Parts: sequence; structure tokens; C-alpha cells
Amino acid sequence: MMSMKGTSTMAKAAAIFSIVFLSLLVAGKSQLFSRTMSRQELGLKKEKLSHLHFYFHDTLSGRNPTAIRVAEAPTTNSSATLFGAVVVIDDPLTLKPEPSSKQVGRAQGIYASAAKEEIALFMAYSFVFTEGKYNGSTLSVSGRNPVPSAVREMAIVGGSGLFRFARGYAQARTHWLNFTTGDAIVEYDLYVSHY
Ligand SMILES: *[C@@H]1O[C@H](CO)[C@@H](O)[C@H](O)[C@H]1NC(C)=O
Ligand SMILES: *[C@@H]1O[C@H](CO)[C@@H](O)[C@H](O)[C@H]1NC(C)=O
Ligand SMILES: *[C@@H]1O[C@H](CO)[C@@H](O)[C@H](O)[C@H]1NC(C)=O
Repeated sequence: MMSMKGTSTMAKAAAIFSIVFLSLLVAGKSQLFSRTMSRQELGLKKEKLSHLHFYFHDTLSGRNPTAIRVAEAPTTNSSATLFGAVVVIDDPLTLKPEPSSKQVGRAQGIYASAAKEEIALFMAYSFVFTEGKYNGSTLSVSGRNPVPSAVREMAIVGGSGLFRFARGYAQARTHWLNFTTGDAIVEYDLYVSHY
């Protein structure tokens, strides 16, 4: 009896020990999931502010459109604001308003007509730079664009490459618009905080 009782007590102790040990192991593992680190480890120095200026060419018409409507609702074409239209873009960005001027990048992503009572787009795209020191770096834009307004402001929510940890805003001003085709040249000013 004594020895059996002793054995079961030991078994219980062993079981409790295993549970405690396993939960410690699990807790230890979950701590490896994240850690605090210094900015120096990523080579980050002083945060700076940059202003970028260029022109965005949104071409829906012709044989080589850079903006194509990929989806719509059954009611989109009867809506004065084209509510529900979804457009994919790969629009060139140039230094000057002329389409033939030097290209500095592309705007790649989507916009959707997202307002029923006015023309306003929701835009989610990347500025992909292809010139100078920002060649290969990107900025991510997410925001509302009420197209008829003189100045529209959208959030810059992040970036990659030299624009890691970027945040800021983009201001868009229509430079030229063909009301028939919807083709537009838009002036962009970006104010970006990054390292
Ligand atoms: C809506 O209009 C667009 C552009 O004119 C056209 O391509 C599309 O087929 C139309 N959709 C419907 C459902 O009529
Ligand atoms: C930009 O980077 C790409 C890829 O590294 C390279 O092929 C291209 O020549 C670069 N362009 C300029 C203008 O430096
Ligand atoms: C707008 O586009 C239409 C169709 O291509 C063209 O006939 C018209 O001349 C253009 N208007 C302007 C102001 O460029």
C-alpha cells in the first residue's frame, strides 16, 4: 500500500512538473516572437523630411491606357459619380507636365469610385521610383481623392527601401483633364518623413 501510494504521489508530481515545464517552454518560445531593439541595429540615424514633386499621367483612353476599369456594379454606368467602378493603374510619373518629359517612376495600384453623391475616389497604390537615389524605393498611398476639389490630400502610410518607416501626405492638383475621356495629368507634392 505504502509503496503504491508513494508511486502515485511521484507520478502526480512528475505530471505536475511536466505541465509546469511545458508551459514554461511555451511561454519561453512565445517571448522569442518579439523583442525590443535599437534603431542603430537597422542603421537608422536622424529622421528627415523630404519634398517630392512630379506629374502623374492617368490615361484611360487610346490604344495603350495606363488606367483600366476592371470591375463595376450593375448600377455603375447609370450613376453620375460612377459609383462602384474599380480601376487598376500603372501611371507614369514625370518631372514636368509634358508626357515626354523625364520619367521618375510609376504609380501602381487601384482606385475605386467610392462616393454616391459626389465624385470621390478611394486610392490605394504605390509610388515606385526609378530614378536617382530613390530608384527601387516605394511609398504607399492610401486615401480619399475628391477629384473636383482644387487640392486633394491623401495619406502616405509607409514605404520601402530608403523610405522605410515613411509617413506623411500627398497633395494632388489637377493640371489638365479631358472631360470626354477622363484622361488627366495631376501635379503631386509629397511631404514625407523618413530616415
Ligand atoms: C459601362 O461603361 C463602360 C465604359 O463605357 C463599358 O466598358 C462597360 O461595358 C459598361 N458596362 C455595362 C454593364 O454596361
Ligand atoms: C534603377 O535600378 C535598376 C535595378 O537595380 C537598374 O537596372 C536601373 O539601371 C536603375 N536606374 C537608374 C536610372 O539608375
Ligand atoms: C478629349 O478627348 C477627345 C477624344 O479623344 C478629343 O476629341 C478631344 O479633342 C480631347 N479634348 C482635349 C481638350 O484635349
